[in-house]
Amino acid sequence: MCGIVAFTGATEALPFLLDGLKRLEYRGYDSAGVAVVHSEAQGGAPKAALKVVRRQGKVATLIEALSGTEVAGTCGIGHTRWATHGVPSEQNAHPHLDCSGRIAVAHNGIIENYTHLKDRLVEQGHCFTSQTDTEVIAHLVEQNYGETEGDLTEAVRVTVAQLSGSFALAILHAGHPDIVVVTRNDSPLVLGSFEDGAIAASDTPALIEKTRDIVYIRDRDLAVLHGDGRIEYFDPAGEPFVPNVYHVEWSLEQAEKGGYPDFMLKEISEQPRVIRDTIADRFDDRTRTLRFPELPLTDEELADIDRIYIVACGTSYHAGLIGKELIENWARIPVEVEVASEFRYGNPIISADTLVIAISQSGETADTLEAVRLARQAGAHVIALTNVVGSRITQEAQTVLNIKANIEIAVAATKSFLAQVTLLTLLGLYFAQERLLLTGPQIQEIFGEMRQLPGQIEHILADTAAIERAAKACCEATTALFIGRGVGATTCYEGALKLKEVSYLHAEAFSAGEIKHGPIALIDAAAGTPVVAVVTQSATRDKMLANIEEMKARGARVIAVATEGDGRIEKLADHVIYIPPTRECLSPITASVPLQLFARYIAVERGCDVDQPRNLAKSVTVE
Ligand code: M6R
Repeated sequence: MCGIVAFTGATEALPFLLDGLKRLEYRGYDSAGVAVVHSEAQGGAPKAALKVVRRQGKVATLIEALSGTEVAGTCGIGHTRWATHGVPSEQNAHPHLDCSGRIAVAHNGIIENYTHLKDRLVEQGHCFTSQTDTEVIAHLVEQNYGETEGDLTEAVRVTVAQLSGSFALAILHAGHPDIVVVTRNDSPLVLGSFEDGAIAASDTPALIEKTRDIVYIRDRDLAVLHGDGRIEYFDPAGEPFVPNVYHVEWSLEQAEKGGYPDFMLKEISEQPRVIRDTIADRFDDRTRTLRFPELPLTDEELADIDRIYIVACGTSYHAGLIGKELIENWARIPVEVEVASEFRYGNPIISADTLVIAISQSGETADTLEAVRLARQAGAHVIALTNVVGSRITQEAQTVLNIKANIEIAVAATKSFLAQVTLLTLLGLYFAQERLLLTGPQIQEIFGEMRQLPGQIEHILADTAAIERAAKACCEATTALFIGRGVGATTCYEGALKLKEVSYLHAEAFSAGEIKHGPIALIDAAAGTPVVAVVTQSATRDKMLANIEEMKARGARVIAVATEGDGRIEKLADHVIYIPPTRECLSPITASVPLQLFARYIAVERGCDVDQPRNLAKSVTVE
């Protein structure tokens, strides 16, 4: 939520700031702004001053406002906002200034004690111009700058100690025209330097064109970016330190659309590669064993696990629901899947034999991070399953399993979901192997079928005409129902979330057996309410067919996702989307693909912004 960028170097700051903001726009897009230190003639002698331009709306609106405006300077900060405190408006857009107009702050996060700080600052004579929590930071730095006799780094350090809440900050002072001070607490921030300068941002895509060697700082650490490319690092006590540097494997091209009309379609299309990479090297054909070298648990510890909690939000939560079915089925370990925001305020039963799997694409979702902390405090071993190497969750969990989706930019998660489900499938098999519940040949057979999945998804992607036809028929609907059974039902939960997110069409998913206990009342024969039914090969397929008959009898327009060769379904459904045959436990991986495309086509038909749906942000770093 919110993206910040900072640049100081030998060249103009603005091109980097705007390019960075565009790359971070998935984090929030209701207003944007930049502040640059530039030279102003004041009474003859040039003096450094801040030039600030802010606009309500997307980064494109800011760029438009900047064209024809002189914003020259080699040191600056920028921000794209997802509003928390104060409506989206120019006045509330960042960067925010102090009273003198010489200090500018870009902030991602929430300052929890801002009312208390604001009251005190107002008493001290500071004037506020926005409704945001962020503005207190600019005034606090101003106050502390005076009290530290003009030591900007120290003023920021003292300020940080006064803040509670989450923040990533980039701070500029006209009196220090070639440095930017940055810091963070519970909000992401990445830093890097290159031959001509130093840069920082909320996420790696903003930096990748300049450097692939990235530094993550810890909570409340401070970094001072210098125009000659140096970065100084200080811990919260002000002691200098040398940080670790991580090399990013993916390239700039992977963070671009590459000829696709939107990132969502590009990312859906990448899924065969993602699955290939996720399963690569996991199975040893010679010994017929699955490998999870990242898992430090001994055979004894694995045997002793008495309960698994999976904690996650949104799409990652849906992956967890599928993981539960597979782990319970194969490894016979009870699994509870909890929405992270509920888990942390519930009273989970955790012992030393409890394993907690926290799933987060971004690795920075605030609720999931809090759940991880709670689980660790209670003594559980926590495995983080994430897509972002070096992200916050990787620093909090004892064990990290990286999914191989590579950077995901569309706000709606697609390829990361398939990678999560694939990795959870492997984990379920691995637990069963280690607990001696599945034999080598049994696992080999299932793994062999997993090797077919990328080709099967390529087959689905090669001909999407039936999906497009079904989507066209439904795009005027006001509500859509999704039904399935077992893992088919969980596949539907995710399918319905995708549709809501990108097309704003109201959608709900139900276990098909439940629908006649209430939701069937939603079917409106006159409107031909769409019912998307996942009815692939499974032990409950005949029950699904009966449920579909019940829907049809009430006037539903049925869109079935069925297995190739299933002739019976054609007689029942209005639209059939065929997918290649897989065993039931693997079907979420193939059946999800047409549901993702269905959501996207409807969104495109309805003229929605597929990659940046209204009100959403890619990573939710606030509670
Ligand atoms: O980064 P995370 O996996 O922790 O994010 C969790 C949810 O915010 C995320 O899955 C959200 O629901 C997506 N917009 C789904 O498309």
